[in-house]
Amino acid sequence: DKRHTVLIDVDTFNSQRIFVSQKGRDLWHSDFVKMPCSQATHQKSRWDVISKKLKSLASKKTASVKDVEEAIIKYNPKYKDQWSFDALHTLYQNTPDTENYYKTLFPKIAALALKLPSFVNKAIPLLRKGQSAAITMSQVQISCLLANAFFCTFPHRNTSSPNAEYSGYPSINFNSLFGNFSRRKIEKLRAIMHYFKEVTDESTRPKGLVTFERECLSYTDMPTWESCKANLSKLHITSEGQIELEGKGMLQVDFANSLIGGGVLGSGLLQEEILFVINPELIVARLFTEKLEDNECLIITGSQQFSYYSGFGDSFEWAGPYEDQSERDEWARRKTKILAIDAMNFRHSVDQYRMRHITRELNKAYCGFKGYDGHENPDIATGKWGCEAFNGDPQLKALIQLMAAAKAKRGLAFFTFGDENLKQRLQRIYDLMFAEGITVGTLYKLLRDFSPAKHCDSHVDLFDFIEKNRNSKSHL
Ligand code: APR
Repeated sequence: DKRHTVLIDVDTFNSQRIFVSQKGRDLWHSDFVKMPCSQATHQKSRWDVISKKLKSLASKKTASVKDVEEAIIKYNPKYKDQWSFDALHTLYQNTPDTENYYKTLFPKIAALALKLPSFVNKAIPLLRKGQSAAITMSQVQISCLLANAFFCTFPHRNTSSPNAEYSGYPSINFNSLFGNFSRRKIEKLRAIMHYFKEVTDESTRPKGLVTFERECLSYTDMPTWESCKANLSKLHITSEGQIELEGKGMLQVDFANSLIGGGVLGSGLLQEEILFVINPELIVARLFTEKLEDNECLIITGSQQFSYYSGFGDSFEWAGPYEDQSERDEWARRKTKILAIDAMNFRHSVDQYRMRHITRELNKAYCGFKGYDGHENPDIATGKWGCEAFNGDPQLKALIQLMAAAKAKRGLAFFTFGDENLKQRLQRIYDLMFAEGITVGTLYKLLRDFSPAKHCDSHVDLFDFIEKNRNSKSHL
């Protein structure tokens, strides 16, 4: 049975198979997040310094970036000459005085961070590789953890050397967001600061819960793709709109990195990072989610969108507050479901047509699409997964996701993100395959034949190949 840890004091969960993490347990242990406020002897004195600094900040009416920097460096002295705060400084300096709410916000974030021992008084288990497990926490707890990330208080999380204790985990302290100024950083910071403004204000503080669920597809559950008799499920293709807006209420795919959130705390600003910047609660997953393996995914239920945005990559801009109106479920979670699946990163594009890579991508997508107990399993909102930073072929990735959705018996809404040509071609090939009742197994065999053809001639186009070869004997 999957272990589900709940970090809040409630008794309404009793009917579920859950594990309420023990109150007050302070576990300085390799299975749990090492907390900055731990009473473990060597950590206690560090928290004394942290809390002294944060208390002094929290007691001020206004604070400058210099004050924030000084506090952070006080308890992270090793990084004095390595960490820069120029992006945060630039944001602050370039904001007209009338709009500069940051100076009054910094003390509030410090006050929120200080609440850690009382707000999160239970041990947070790590979501480790190879184990399906879930954690539910309140949005207030998340805001408190993120306030600590903002003030870079998490211990043992600042080195990325391969032997470091958390080397298999994403970074969580925000120092990398504050330095190496770029326009991207400024726009990201505007979104993140807006989040903190909302969560530190009594009238807008979010009141729900969020669940983070790591799912691990066992080898016995992996489909035998070659003999899969499933027919294609329904497909809606559009070149307009975005997964996170038009796909509301659906299972929304995050084109993820195996280290969840990818470059969200650096300068990355592609689909995943944008998603995390407009829904900053997702960032907390980085605290406890070990790198995803090939047969794993992360499902997040209940996170809230705080910002609008426009653009993508260098053209990304924070476009103001977003009022999330999504309904809540019986656990007070917003009904938003985000599925993080990491595609393979193909340095050489031709590698993606190898069957073991195709099978890996099929199993990865299926792991996310298959549906799990306790979920309503709506249709899936996705698009050009793995097709930009990770160099995938949009035609191949569309077919792989269609096959996984067919096996999972779920409909697919495919957002081509302005790619009119892909929209038309995918619609045509889908209509053809659907009308002829082509099964997942047949498609798998067609891909197997396509692989050598593509190796011989890199200009061969997958949809053309399927159209021409779909009736040849070897696939039937
Ligand atoms: N809705 C629909 N489609 C989108 C959206 C959106 N909101 N945003 C982007 N796309 C489309 C674009 O067409 C883009 O080219 O998805 C394509 C692929 O986007 P990438 O983010 O580059 O995805 P991928 O190739 O899987 O790269 C994943 O990038 O963001 C990082 O952390 C992530 O390291 C990981 C890598």
